[in-house]
Amino acid sequence: MREEAIHFRLNGEDVQVRVAPNRMLLWVLRTEFGLTGTKYGCGVGVCGACTVVVNGEAVRSCQTPIGSVRGKEVLTIEGLGKEGRLHPLQQAFVEHDALQCGYCTPGMIMSAYALLLKNPRPTRAEIIAWMDGNLCRCGAHPRIVRAIESLAERK
Ligand code: FES
Ligand code: FES
Repeated sequence: MREEAIHFRLNGEDVQVRVAPNRMLLWVLRTEFGLTGTKYGCGVGVCGACTVVVNGEAVRSCQTPIGSVRGKEVLTIEGLGKEGRLHPLQQAFVEHDALQCGYCTPGMIMSAYALLLKNPRPTRAEIIAWMDGNLCRCGAHPRIVRAIESLAERK
């Protein structure tokens, strides 16, 4: 496929990139923009490591052609914290020790962010159901759920 100029918003800024529109968002973020917080896990849409938020929805960037985000608002883990401060969700993950190796963490946090956008006070059951598609090979799931729950309780 031929390269095209593609405009979108990335972490609050207007950006443009010249790539083939069928190139996956994951690789554009990591390679063209150097935003390596978004991780490659399975590459086939089943692990959630590559999750970013597009127009308020959690999406798997390994399965999202860059052409499909034209004109849209893309938020990655790098765009969450403001002015050198962690986002409250990131802080909750730290406080609840909700990670071990940390590889799944950006995708977990971006999925949780999308959940809290839609439902600021999810129940434990709703958190577990929502996060079911994000896999953690270190087995930090109970602490991840607790971190998200703690934030939901504060809202
Ligand atoms: S790398 Fe995208 S879902 Fe696993
Ligand atoms: S903390 Fe290692 S994969 Fe989740």
